[in-house]
Amino acid sequence: MDSILVLDFGGQTTQLIARRIREIGIFSQVIPGDTSYADFGKMENGENIRGFIFSGSPESVCDAQAPALDPEFLNDGRPVLGICYGLQRIMHDMGGEVQKKDTREFGRNRIRYPVSNPHPGAHPQPSADPQPSAHPHPGADPLFAGVPENFVSWMSHGDSITRPAAGFSVIAESENSHPAALAHNSKPIYGLQFHPEVSHCEHGLDILRNFSVEICGCGREWSIRNFIQAAEDEIRKRAGAGAVLLLISGGVDSTVVGGLLLKCLKASQVHLMYIDTGLMRKNETQKVEGALRALGAKNLHIIHAEEDFLVPLEGVGDPEEKRRIIGDAFIRVQEREVNKLGIERALLAQGTLYTDMIESGKGVGHKAKVIKSHHNVRSPLVEKKRAAGLIIEPLATLYKDEVRSLGLELGIDPDVINRHPFPGPGLAVRILGEITREKLDILREADYLYMGELKRRGLYDKIWQAFAVLLPIRSVGVTGDHREYGYICALRAIVSQDGMTADVYPFDMSELLEISSILTNKVSQIGRVSYDISSKPPATIEWE
Ligand code: XMP
Repeated sequence: MDSILVLDFGGQTTQLIARRIREIGIFSQVIPGDTSYADFGKMENGENIRGFIFSGSPESVCDAQAPALDPEFLNDGRPVLGICYGLQRIMHDMGGEVQKKDTREFGRNRIRYPVSNPHPGAHPQPSADPQPSAHPHPGADPLFAGVPENFVSWMSHGDSITRPAAGFSVIAESENSHPAALAHNSKPIYGLQFHPEVSHCEHGLDILRNFSVEICGCGREWSIRNFIQAAEDEIRKRAGAGAVLLLISGGVDSTVVGGLLLKCLKASQVHLMYIDTGLMRKNETQKVEGALRALGAKNLHIIHAEEDFLVPLEGVGDPEEKRRIIGDAFIRVQEREVNKLGIERALLAQGTLYTDMIESGKGVGHKAKVIKSHHNVRSPLVEKKRAAGLIIEPLATLYKDEVRSLGLELGIDPDVINRHPFPGPGLAVRILGEITREKLDILREADYLYMGELKRRGLYDKIWQAFAVLLPIRSVGVTGDHREYGYICALRAIVSQDGMTADVYPFDMSELLEISSILTNKVSQIGRVSYDISSKPPATIEWE
């Protein structure tokens, strides 16, 4: 399958570039921008890569420490598109000049092409250029095919190109007359100073489509249906007639892996294990069981391990200590229960996503493979299976929204697919301080009512994550003629792309007031409700 490779120089929107290319129907992967050309040569299916995109970066090419590009990528011959820093990297490395300018460009900015006035002061063509300085196809560049000659782009740069490298022509300019797009006169090397991947950029998708389909010649072969077929073949090949074990958390990713396994293997081969920690939401275990049975699960091992978690947590208030106890309990219970199954040689399937495999936006060269999921962190079971080559991660090339599409395609209940994320330690990190069974019941009920109200009011799907938190303090209130000390319940609702940063969901005040009344009326132990209005950063999404 044809694909486009994105080299990540640490830009905030790098993942979005790959997502947009996939939206066009072309497979796209991201690798660190400082990957050597020799290492790139060892990539599996590297021969299917039809072109490269160099991402943006918070760094400046004027800085010697800025992430470098192996020049061999520019000699490879396959088409290249540099975006923002990616373009400046190309210009700088090929002998052009990039400088910090007084007029920085952030946000919306109009782009126009073709460039009628060469603006010699702003970006003179190099005199040593052996190529003609005018682009051979002014105004009709394939990159802008079908794009109006004047459109709104989205910019985010402090540095500007003051002299293009030899052989390049400016093919579009910004409203401040800075070079906005460049093309080489004889090689398929392009650059954009703006970000076509962000939704505010008009015709951004057209420009990316022109690059990947028209310039790189990619076939549009990527789709979730094609993915399912390939994944099924791979799973059958790996599993043969043997057993496959999957630890189910109740979240979207592991449920979708379960659905995929059950679609392509015999139900008798597929062992699904779900551990009820006693820290789950109301009716969670029944819901998970129902969803998996509906997918045809036969070997469904529901482990009621409440005592394994709640007893060691008694009297513990320190958040880190709580997490450690929960992590240890997961390991103990997992080992005990997996041993009981007698399937030592089983493959272990994991719901690892593409974004779990690469660390993006945190700088270049972080190739660390992040092992996903609460109970699998530090898990000796996972480490043992990985060492024995018995891990299978069928979602490892997918983004979250693709996993959701896959889940729907597999016929999984949309209610399960669209659920908000839920942390591995469960309600333990939402009861601040010491956990008691009474507090768990109170929080479960409050959370259940809150979620029910969000759904009833059509708000649930507009919110990325919402939940209730029980505070370790009580405040005074009056009910009838009595003064009572009730718990304080804090409500959280945030919007986010990926949980890395988050904004507070701006409820209509009337909705909040009604939800607050419902909680205090129906959960007698709750005397007061507050709404958390902190974004992330500085706060985190969870309270512990
Ligand atoms: P924070 O609180 O770090 O949360 O802003 C970001 C996202 O991660 C979830 N989260 C966890 N998920 N185990 C998990 O599996 C954990 O220990 C954990 N802590 C936070 C959180 O719900 C949010 O979606």
